[in-house]
Amino acid sequence: MTAPYRVFVTRVLPGSGFAELRDDPAFDLDVWPDDFPPPREALLERVDGVDGLICLITDRIDAAVLDAAGSQLKVVSQMAVGVDNVDVAACAARGIPVGNTPGVLTETTADIAWALILASARRIVEAAEYVKAGEWNTWAPTQMAGADVFGATLGVIGFGAIGQAVARRAQGFGMRVLCWNRTPRPDAAAALSAEERSLDAVLAESDFVSVNVALTDDTRGLINADAFERMRPGAILINTARGPIVDEEALVTALRDGQIGGAGLDVTAVEPLSMDSPLLTMKNVVVLPHIGSASMATRSKMADMAVANLRAGLSGQPLPNSVPTPASG
Ligand code: DGY
Repeated sequence: MTAPYRVFVTRVLPGSGFAELRDDPAFDLDVWPDDFPPPREALLERVDGVDGLICLITDRIDAAVLDAAGSQLKVVSQMAVGVDNVDVAACAARGIPVGNTPGVLTETTADIAWALILASARRIVEAAEYVKAGEWNTWAPTQMAGADVFGATLGVIGFGAIGQAVARRAQGFGMRVLCWNRTPRPDAAAALSAEERSLDAVLAESDFVSVNVALTDDTRGLINADAFERMRPGAILINTARGPIVDEEALVTALRDGQIGGAGLDVTAVEPLSMDSPLLTMKNVVVLPHIGSASMATRSKMADMAVANLRAGLSGQPLPNSVPTPASG
């Protein structure tokens, strides 16, 4: 009998695929049991000698981790669509495919972008806190008055699957939709009655700006002081992609100076966001703990996809969903 595949999984996962993996004698699973990610030292130790790795966005998988694992490592399978925490080039250099989980989280993430659009515009969190604090004493003409979503202009930065799903929802709100994508997507824009514009035009003409690009070297800090200066006074920034795409210091300044009207953030530059962050003192900012894909159904599907990628990689098959290597583009 061949020795079981040794696999390190950096967290207990939902879904049937993971349960089956645990019961499968062909796998020798080491599962990090805490809710917190394995500290760096533990990660380096636990990957030693593994054939496969299932990881999350909280785990930095770089050359040091790959070296600590050893040359027998056959696959890195990430339970997320974004892989900015994984050094894909270092994996490629070692011939290790990287799996991810595109598609299944598109609609769930678009839902959270919309939750943030509505919450920020209509001051939902602030209003709910007001009620809980016993401050609701009367009805007044401008009490908790916010901005209209219906009929406003939505700008979508990054018109991939999630950006398009955000735009699709805007149709029900009678919105004008502007979009920008590094590689123009005229067909997708036309299908959603969205207008493809320059990045500057999207920033300048939108009441809501939704960030939906992947984090890369090109998009890090894309929404910076200059971008905030271009935005409409009163505009609301929504980020459900990755925190570092937005220059957080510039965001704080833009909010403080009233350059923009508010922000709805599911992601922050450093996660978890420090309790000292000025963002947490601002009533016009809603911060969520990176829950874009967090429905039970979607997270289970993501875990199942991660397991499927792992299984394929271990048996030398092409991964059902693999991240393009820098060389294959
Ligand atoms: C992803 O998949 O990249 C999300 O940010 C986590 O669900």
